[in-house]
Amino acid sequence: MSNIEQTLSIIKPDAVQRGLDNAIKDMLKSKGFLIIKEKKIQIEKSEAEKFYKVHETKSFYNDLCSYLSSGPIVAMILEKENAVLDNRELMGATDPKDALEGTIREKYGISIDKNSVHGSDSVENAKIEINFFFKD
Ligand code: CMP
Repeated sequence: MSNIEQTLSIIKPDAVQRGLDNAIKDMLKSKGFLIIKEKKIQIEKSEAEKFYKVHETKSFYNDLCSYLSSGPIVAMILEKENAVLDNRELMGATDPKDALEGTIREKYGISIDKNSVHGSDSVENAKIEINFFFKD
C-alpha cells in the first residue's frame, strides 16, 4: 500500500547565502521528492520563535531563532512515499560531523547551528510546519 506523505523542508540561511539552493533541491529531486510549493523569504525573529516553539526551553533557542531569521531561507513542501523519514535520512544527523556520507548535512553543513537544512520530524509536525509557511 502506498504511503504518500508531505513534509516541510527549509534551506537555512547558511546554505542560501552560499548559493546552494539548487544543489540541495537537485539532491531532493534525485531521491524522488516532488517540490509541491516553495518560497524564498526572510522571517522575523518573532516568527522563528513561533516556528521553533518546541525548543523554547533549550539553551540554544535564542541563538537558533536569531539564526533562522538572519537571512533568506527557502521553505518547501516535499511530497513522496514516506517523505518525513526519507527526508530525515537524506538530511543526515543534526550535527554535520555525525552525518553519514551522501547526506545533505555531511556535504554542506558547517556546524550544528549552520546545518543547512531543516525537516519535519513527524507527520503530525509536518502538517503544523507546512501550515506555518503555506497557510492558503
Ligand atoms: P533543526 O532540525 O532545524 O531543529 C532545531 C535546530 O536547533 C537544529 O536543527 C540545530 O540546527 C539547532 N541546534 C543547535 N544546538 C543544538 C543541540 N545541542 N541539539 C539539537 N539541535 C541544536
